[in-house]
Amino acid sequence: MLFSKNLRSKYYSYQGRKISKKISQSKKKLINDFYDRFSFDQSIIQYHNQKNIKQKLKFPDQFKKVNIEIGFGNGEFLIKNAISSPNELFIGIEVYLNGIAKVLTEIINLKLDNIILSNLNSFYFLETISCKSVDRIFIINPDPWTKKRHHKRRVMSYETIKLLKKIVKSKNSIFMTTDSESYIKDTERLLNKYKASFGSYKTCILSENNKLYGISRYQRKAIEKEGKIYLLTL
Ligand SMILES: C[S@@+](CC[C@H](N)C(=O)[O-])C[C@H]1O[C@@H](n2cnc3c(N)ncnc32)[C@H](O)[C@@H]1O
Repeated sequence: MLFSKNLRSKYYSYQGRKISKKISQSKKKLINDFYDRFSFDQSIIQYHNQKNIKQKLKFPDQFKKVNIEIGFGNGEFLIKNAISSPNELFIGIEVYLNGIAKVLTEIINLKLDNIILSNLNSFYFLETISCKSVDRIFIINPDPWTKKRHHKRRVMSYETIKLLKKIVKSKNSIFMTTDSESYIKDTERLLNKYKASFGSYKTCILSENNKLYGISRYQRKAIEKEGKIYLLTL
């Protein structure tokens, strides 16, 4: 389904990176055989194509908490969380197909039943989620897009933050880490500008004993270069 040209609609489109980067035949087969079983993508596309009444997405109700990770990369943090909290649901959104294949392999090998995957641009996924229905959202080292002309590609845009704030159940449940000082400063500026709508936030430099320290490939790359990892909690 995922490889069918006419089904790879604009909802999969993502500025800056080629979605259909090289992917092996075996990963293609894995995705063709299993992906739809662990994804809501078709319902999300239907939602967006619907002209009249739009039904927000319904999560399976057997889980105690709903977590979302945007841009999970190779899925290391997503899988670790799913293993350690089997009563919680983990929704992983990633436009990079090799990352989807990696997590799909783990889901099957480890028989995980608490992960939902999406290969869509996260913005379209977030739009289909009901208000106050998500417990925690993680955005771990998003692409920094340091050049000014590329800032509009950043995940932490005004529109996305608005959606994130709408779908979380409570304050202090959106977590973003980054090693980019310009990203953290620009996000702080944005949050200060719209403080009345977004409320308060906290930023700090992650210490080694923080649970979110060193949890992903991109974080570790920055740590190896002696970079700081900033945490924003919103
Ligand atoms: C810098 S990488 C970080 C990956 C991982 N979180 C880590 O720390 O190792 C950012 C990831 O976000 C994904 N991404 C960027 N924009 C996205 C979007 N709009 N929706 C879903 N994934 C996105 C990219 O494909 C990429 O894998």
